[in-house]
Amino acid sequence: MTNTKTEKPQVICLDGPSGVGKGTICLCIAAELGWHILDSGSLYRITALAFSRQFPGKAVAEVDESQLADIAKNLDVSYVEKDGRLQILLGGEDVSELIRAEEIGNLASQVAAVPAVREALLARQRAFLQPPGLVADGRDMGTVVFPDAPLKIYLTASAEERANRRYKQLKEKGIDVNLGSLVEELRQRDERDMNRKTAPLKPASDAIIIDTTTLDIDQACREVMNWVDKKIVHR
Ligand code: C5P
Repeated sequence: MTNTKTEKPQVICLDGPSGVGKGTICLCIAAELGWHILDSGSLYRITALAFSRQFPGKAVAEVDESQLADIAKNLDVSYVEKDGRLQILLGGEDVSELIRAEEIGNLASQVAAVPAVREALLARQRAFLQPPGLVADGRDMGTVVFPDAPLKIYLTASAEERANRRYKQLKEKGIDVNLGSLVEELRQRDERDMNRKTAPLKPASDAIIIDTTTLDIDQACREVMNWVDKKIVHR
């Protein structure tokens, strides 16, 4: 066990595929601990948005890797807490909602497969590690970005359950979607994330695997907090 009060800030890694509940679980663990959050997917989503604006109508494969890396390197992004919610600003514009669109998620998984983009975002992600600690969610937090983290959790759930959750979320927001096409998009995104050459989605060798298929969000947060209590001294 490591003591947060006497040592450098620690990080808890939450990795796993889309729709597994990482974002919500990350928020609840960070709130319990009073730690910072890294939503690493948002950086890939913002890169995708900036790409689509800089190269309208172009496919990722049509653009030079170094130009893609420049976009990622030069992102003018800030995270600001306002009225109890986290705003994501790109060049001062609030893009918090815009980057959650399905097409931006798909584009994000394409830019995320480009090694130079991942490299360009590495230092930016590590800079989130500030006292008292960080809860980081993504695909490669435990394998690449924070390989020395004292607690790595890999969350899974069946593809059907993940697509169902996403379907309900979008319905609640009044967005009309087709469940069949959501399952298909999720499958394609999983496939791309798991099979890319650089930093593929996979559990770190020392990760604890939690299947959330039959857990609600409170149960999943409790399960993760049990591991936090076992592995990290925080109170
Ligand atoms: O987690 P989120 O759905 O916001 O991530 C969007 C995409 O960004 C993922 O499908 C994945 O391709 C990419 N990503 C990644 N590595 C991370 C976080 C996200 O490759 N650490």
